[in-house]
Amino acid sequence: MEPTTITTGTTTDTTVTGSETTGVDQQAAEAFGQEVFGHYVGGMLTYMIDLGIRTGLLDALAEGPATSHELAERAGAVERYVREWLAALATGGIVRYDPATQTFELPPEHAVCLTGTSAFNVAPQSRITTLLARYVDGVADAFRDGGGIPFTAYRPEFTGVMDQLSRGIMDDALIDRILPLTGELPDRLERGIRVADVGCGTGHAANLLARHFPASTFVGYDIAPDAIDRAREEAAAWGLTNATFEVLDATRLPVDPPFDAVFAFDTVHDLVDPRGVLARIHDALTPGGTLVVYDVNASSDLADNLAHPLAPFIYAVSTLHCLTVSLSEDGAGLGTAWGRQQAMLLLADAGFEGVTVHDVPDDPLNCVYVGHRPTGDR
Ligand SMILES: C[S@@+](CC[C@H](N)C(=O)[O-])C[C@H]1O[C@@H](n2cnc3c(N)ncnc32)[C@H](O)[C@@H]1O
Repeated sequence: MEPTTITTGTTTDTTVTGSETTGVDQQAAEAFGQEVFGHYVGGMLTYMIDLGIRTGLLDALAEGPATSHELAERAGAVERYVREWLAALATGGIVRYDPATQTFELPPEHAVCLTGTSAFNVAPQSRITTLLARYVDGVADAFRDGGGIPFTAYRPEFTGVMDQLSRGIMDDALIDRILPLTGELPDRLERGIRVADVGCGTGHAANLLARHFPASTFVGYDIAPDAIDRAREEAAAWGLTNATFEVLDATRLPVDPPFDAVFAFDTVHDLVDPRGVLARIHDALTPGGTLVVYDVNASSDLADNLAHPLAPFIYAVSTLHCLTVSLSEDGAGLGTAWGRQQAMLLLADAGFEGVTVHDVPDDPLNCVYVGHRPTGDR
């Protein structure tokens, strides 16, 4: 059979044998090829955004329009690299280019999404894509051999990237949009209770809570020593006397003295032993005590997630991080999109009662589960 050529719409034509294209709608194949290449373009632009953060070029460009030479001087970078980077961003629709003046501009609506401290800034999320690229080889091996890549192999970079991902969200939403979902917990925090944050990472959430609720005491636990160091540094810098941090596997969470409330931010789906940790949290709570789990908002049923715009991102992050860290230790491998149905089951199995799940306003990626240790327990 004669070979058939499919024009993908890119500069590369793909020549395939006739048997491979029998029954294939060539136009649909061409359109899909272009779509796939669009994903690669997005991937490369993600690296460009990451570079823009690392070099300070995005911040420098947000100051105002500039030629490549002016921007290079502004950011203290090598002009030839800056020019290539700007060309990628201009052709990618991220910056505007005026050929007459050879100036580049970051429109204000783009600047707010790529710089600054507002919740609009999604530039830090680029770092997770860059970081996870390093683990493609190792995860490919795990597909064949089983097991996975342990958490330790992601540190210290993961600690910083995770901090960048969650810090802005917590600053923006923790007190005003997440806590109000937890019933009367804010009032109890106001009056003064004992609280744990399990898998606290760099401890920003616990420190924010400790600053806002000075009558309560907070202990953050994490297996990552570098994250705990950073949590302690922030608590000291803020002069907090009611926030402490310890390196500890959550399966060994202290049960005496008990906690009145336990938070787990974006942690349960990463755990090697989520059932063991949830049971331990249950035992570590006072009867009537509250568990708050802030986690990825998805269904446990793939079919429900097909139209979820962020689902490919969630499943891919899971493959390259959340799932593999758990499977590396023969763990449960819940995956990032463990989902509401599975979460409700696990929380009920661990003994929590009256579990409710809540959307977080203006945060489509996450939801909040609230459950209680039964009052008659112990
Ligand atoms: C996705 S990160 C979330 C960190 C932080 N809560 C945040 O939102 O930025 C998950 C955290 O769980 C920690 N972790 C994983 N397994 C743990 C375990 N068994 N005990 C304590 N911490 C654990 C990791 O070290 C990591 O810091």
